[in-house]
Amino acid sequence: MKKNLLSTATLNNGVEIPYLGLGTWLARGQTCEHAVEYALNHGYAHIDTAQEYGNEQQVGKGWKASAKTRDEVFLTTKVRNANQGYESTKKSFEKSLTALQTDYVDLMLIHWPNIKSFNRTLETWQALIELNEKGLCRSIGVSNFTIPLMEKLLSEFDVVPAVNQVEFHNFLYQKELLNYCRDKEIQLEAYSPIARAKYTDNPQLQRVAKKHHKTVPQVMLAWCLHHDVIVIPKSVNEGRIKENAAIFFELDDEDMKVLNNLGPKTRLVDGAWAPPNW
Ligand SMILES: NC(=O)c1ccc[n+]([C@@H]2O[C@H](COP(=O)([O-])OP(=O)(O)OC[C@H]3O[C@@H](n4cnc5c(N)ncnc54)[C@H](OP(=O)(O)O)[C@@H]3O)[C@@H](O)[C@H]2O)c1
Repeated sequence: MKKNLLSTATLNNGVEIPYLGLGTWLARGQTCEHAVEYALNHGYAHIDTAQEYGNEQQVGKGWKASAKTRDEVFLTTKVRNANQGYESTKKSFEKSLTALQTDYVDLMLIHWPNIKSFNRTLETWQALIELNEKGLCRSIGVSNFTIPLMEKLLSEFDVVPAVNQVEFHNFLYQKELLNYCRDKEIQLEAYSPIARAKYTDNPQLQRVAKKHHKTVPQVMLAWCLHHDVIVIPKSVNEGRIKENAAIFFELDDEDMKVLNNLGPKTRLVDGAWAPPNW
């Protein structure tokens, strides 16, 4: 079905998540507040932050300053690596609520799997299940989980994550993970969906963009939507925030064939917490 700015995906617990959200990594201070307020006043209804980003307070101020009421905003935050564990997750969650000026979040994610001590991640998931049961998180999920790690989590719990937020863009088309998540009714969410604007001069992307009178980032975002993947492009620039919302247009089979086969495969986010073989 054709999507529009108001379109939502239904998570495995019935909660509706807007397909478009504003990313906020590296958005700081008043710039962050303003970007959040501006986005919410210009059609966005979903903001992605994390304890790790150090900007939950600014996101809180931003949504409060906007014209939207709390129930019109979908707020996601994430448990920081250092806060994993049963008690520390719950304690950190309280701090997130205060910073975000709210008494619930719409989606709480485990930011990274703890590879060295997966038990900490399991304890974190138990804490999130309880916060969800209390209605303090409307939905709970994970981020940066590979299929084997998801299998490990699912072997211990009956509660299936509502979302897996991973790096996903034309140069990291994680088809197997997407199919796996679809199969398990886990909504895939794309971070770095425009690959941090590193490919704006790619000739194949430019050709598709020109054909639709769109920009390369708009084509990259529309491609994710065509795969039913949630997108959270980050921008603190008013023009680009608006540009990244004008993405609800049709791509045809020929476009999709090109866009599904761009390369070389490139992963932008890696590091100490990265799962093996991802
Ligand atoms: N779960 C995780 O581990 C994880 C990891 C990474 C990211 N994330 C989340 O996903 C969000 C998005 O990912 P990201 O920030 O890595 O990358 P991104 O959204 O792909 O790209 C953001 C970069 O592109 C620029 N930009 C935005 N729109 C543009 C446009 N239309 N034309 C040209 N440049 C544009 C932004 O600069 P300006 O601000 O100056 O426009 C920024 O430098 C993050 O902000 C964060 O919320 C999660």
